[in-house]
Amino acid sequence: MTVTYFITGANRGIGFQLAKQISADSNNVVIATTRSFANSAALQDLNRPNLHIIEYDVASPLEKMKQDLVPIEEYAPNGVDVVIQNAGIATANQKSILETTEDDLAKHFAVNTIGSVKVYQSIFPYWSKKVNPETVKKFIFISSSVSWVNNFFPMLSSHYGPSKAALNLVVRHIAFDHKSSELDHIKNSIIVPVHPGLVTTDMSKEALGDYNFDESPIPVLKPEESAGCIIKIIDNLEPKDNDTFISYDGTRVSW
Ligand SMILES: NC(=O)c1ccc[n+]([C@@H]2O[C@H](COP(=O)([O-])OP(=O)(O)OC[C@H]3O[C@@H](n4cnc5c(N)ncnc54)[C@H](OP(=O)(O)O)[C@@H]3O)[C@@H](O)[C@H]2O)c1
Repeated sequence: MTVTYFITGANRGIGFQLAKQISADSNNVVIATTRSFANSAALQDLNRPNLHIIEYDVASPLEKMKQDLVPIEEYAPNGVDVVIQNAGIATANQKSILETTEDDLAKHFAVNTIGSVKVYQSIFPYWSKKVNPETVKKFIFISSSVSWVNNFFPMLSSHYGPSKAALNLVVRHIAFDHKSSELDHIKNSIIVPVHPGLVTTDMSKEALGDYNFDESPIPVLKPEESAGCIIKIIDNLEPKDNDTFISYDGTRVSW
């Protein structure tokens, strides 16, 4: 039976690799989002009948995001089983809190935190639609190691880190909300934030400036490796994983 995935920010970086690798299995249906069809040549070139592309900007008003998802009714009449909220931004990140600006904070919270909330709100009708005997419902939010409060990661991240920390708390609240859902498949769903590793994408190159990836003290992953790790995590999720933070290598992190 078919498992249907919804992946945001899938035109490049980790999101593209997720869409590519998951849609390589023709049993899967993948709905991949891009902010603009014009920037989605890599996705279009995959030319797979089980891969559908939707224009969707997580910084848009909620009503516009809901409207953008209407084609899912045709692409996945039984709804969506697995959501991967991957879209995010990290710019000019190497700053102290004294140096960070209101604009830095506003932009990062708008996409990484509030955008993620709106992804949850807009996809919920499709994600909660029907039980699929092939899989429990799963919702993955791509977070980051720089979001951890309890296990603070010593790296400058003055606005990106706080925006992902706030995202983690949103995830905890969603897990709490699901406990009282009237729908058993939502009550039993698994929702997790995942750190994808330090990955050589446009984002990390821009966010980390002159960081020496070749001599990094922490492992550096290619986007395809990170996506492979995330897929393995998703495939192996168990009910006890709900509301836990998982790192790309499968480590459960105290966040
Ligand atoms: N790379 C790392 O080392 C690393 C480490 C920790 C966490 N992460 C997280 O991993 C996720 C993917 O990052 P990446 O490294 O693959 O970054 P990336 O290569 O910069 O890709 C980011 C993706 O997000 C999309 N996006 C940005 N703003 C958006 C918006 N307003 N609405 C919809 N989509 C939007 C981008 O679309 P456009 O092409 O239109 O800009 C792009 O598809 C992010 O959540 C990031 O925070 C990455």
